[in-house]
Amino acid sequence: MSGQPELRIFATPAHLFRGAAEEFCAQAVAAVAQHGGFTVALSGGSTPKGLYQLLASGAFPNLPWDKTYFFFGDERHVPPDHPDSNYRMAHDAMLSNAPAANVFRIPAEMKDAGAAASVYEQTLRSFFRLGPGELPRFDLILLGLGPDGHCASLFPGTDALTETKKLVVANWVDKFKTHRVTFTYPVLNDAACVMFLSCGADKASILREVLENPQAGLPSQKVRPTNGRLLWMVDRAAAAELSPQTKSRLA
Ligand code: 6PG
Repeated sequence: MSGQPELRIFATPAHLFRGAAEEFCAQAVAAVAQHGGFTVALSGGSTPKGLYQLLASGAFPNLPWDKTYFFFGDERHVPPDHPDSNYRMAHDAMLSNAPAANVFRIPAEMKDAGAAASVYEQTLRSFFRLGPGELPRFDLILLGLGPDGHCASLFPGTDALTETKKLVVANWVDKFKTHRVTFTYPVLNDAACVMFLSCGADKASILREVLENPQAGLPSQKVRPTNGRLLWMVDRAAAAELSPQTKSRLA
């Protein structure tokens, strides 16, 4: 099942985080009922922190922490205790609620980012028991939308955009003069559900580009699950430049 993205617009970031948390929990409960566990790849950056804090707040007692397996869609090339670490952000916001054995961190402290990517790819292959050429089908992958239209660490003009075989790569991002470790499109597009979270007026123009200009050629536009849902969860400020047609087409 793949088709149109679903767009949900929330009045404020707080409403967005609640809606996303309810969706997260519903998917977790359903996944555990269907196949005994819930696999989720977390997004980094700043937006999802509010979601993670809400999930960890105790407001969702039905979240099956012991059967939820946390991965990361990307990571900066820094140690886990670095202020820029996506793992550190998620751990401080939420992951201390999860069994440590259920959290699969990208070993971005490794000096060689390529080696870190290979180690993490092997982690995926082992956890999902993948044979040659098989892909890990995450129940849910969370993504954010960068101001340049990037998602995970798939930035415009970078090599990772054309990777079709590897699951995880080290991607040189020239504008930051650093490597990032990131999932590739094969993994993103094999998910049962990809959920973008985006809020704030500073995302209004890029969100319009992504949803209304198919010729823009932005990295986020290549996220189209082949057999899964694509869910955009945004607040009113981020949706401010969307046309009424887009809002009704994707509602
Ligand atoms: C990262 C994220 C990145 C993020 C976007 C949006 O490592 O920073 O994976 O892709 O989701 O840059 O970030 P904000 O949510 O902070 O705007």
